[in-house]
Amino acid sequence: MNLETKYLGFTLPNPFIVGAGPIADQVDHARRFEDAGASMIIMRSLFEEQLTAEELAHTRSMDAHANSFAEALTYFPDPADFVLGPHEYLDKLNELKSALTIPVIASLNGVTRGGWLDNARLFEEAGADAIELHIYSLPTDPQTPGAALEQRTLEMVQTVRQAVKIPIAVKLSPFYTSVLNVAQQLVGAGAAGLVLFNRFYHPDIDVEALEIVSRMSLSNSSDLPLRLRGLALLSGRVRASLGVTGGVHTTLDAIKAIMTGADGVQMVSALLRHGPAHLLQLRRELAAWLEQHEYQSLAQMKGSMSFLKCPDPSPFNRASYIKVLQTWNVDSMNV
Ligand SMILES: Cc1cc2nc3c(=O)[nH]c(=O)nc-3n(C[C@H](O)[C@H](O)[C@H](O)COP(=O)(O)O)c2cc1C
Repeated sequence: MNLETKYLGFTLPNPFIVGAGPIADQVDHARRFEDAGASMIIMRSLFEEQLTAEELAHTRSMDAHANSFAEALTYFPDPADFVLGPHEYLDKLNELKSALTIPVIASLNGVTRGGWLDNARLFEEAGADAIELHIYSLPTDPQTPGAALEQRTLEMVQTVRQAVKIPIAVKLSPFYTSVLNVAQQLVGAGAAGLVLFNRFYHPDIDVEALEIVSRMSLSNSSDLPLRLRGLALLSGRVRASLGVTGGVHTTLDAIKAIMTGADGVQMVSALLRHGPAHLLQLRRELAAWLEQHEYQSLAQMKGSMSFLKCPDPSPFNRASYIKVLQTWNVDSMNV
């Protein structure tokens, strides 16, 4: 079965991509996933705060009288606590490029259009095949309208576009008022791919200790439907590759994502839980499923359940919301 897919201009033998996270931290691990059939691998992000802190530390060491670190930076981990510092990141990228044959994507994560974005060029020089730009901010200033934040995001993409020739993918938040509009503008600004959606780690409250607690939890398949709807909305309406991230664990999850328009299927949680053998299994099961259902290729299935192509898109929109609420049967409940 032909599982080929085009993603960010690369022809990949199958859609399974190791998503941004710790798997590429060790070349050995990365190689095991390549051997299991991963068609691309994305490194963890280098963070704006990390780069800015390094720059400030450098400035401070140059100027004995400057004693003010930006207050906000005190809330972030010390530069030394990040798994990969900026120099180590480039070394790791180099190592991965020498050890692997699949495309290696470097990732930048931040919120402003500052000098830290110059790292995109360093990534390109170090051999990155593409850049995934992860722009995540939590607006807390009531004076800043959403449109201004979207404009800032577009400018960041334009800045990176001007700095490098390699493809840029943007990892999107699901919380835009009109994700389709933002997606089209991002593509206009130079994004070759859009990755749906960033998965947030929401803080919780410890009511006894009166503390806010951050917990990291791996995803499960219930994270996927939000992404499916986003993919279905964008598929065929943006001139960019679409990647899914968040909640792909099973072969059926991957099939749903491809049917709604995903060109690339990124996974992190499932691979951390089950290792490379899982990727191998998904690849085999996907091929078998396509054969059983008499598809000629993966490409034939792609986007078949998008808004533009599915027989009845109404369940994707407000109609289904109203129907679901109105048809809930209270008789079977304990009321
Ligand atoms: C341990 C861990 C580390 C991660 N690090 C990053 C990162 O550095 N940059 C990034 O963009 N996403 C990062 N992610 C998010 C993943 O790339 C992915 O978007 C998210 O886990 C949802 O996909 P999943 O359901 O397949 O896990 C990380 C996820 C995990 C679990």
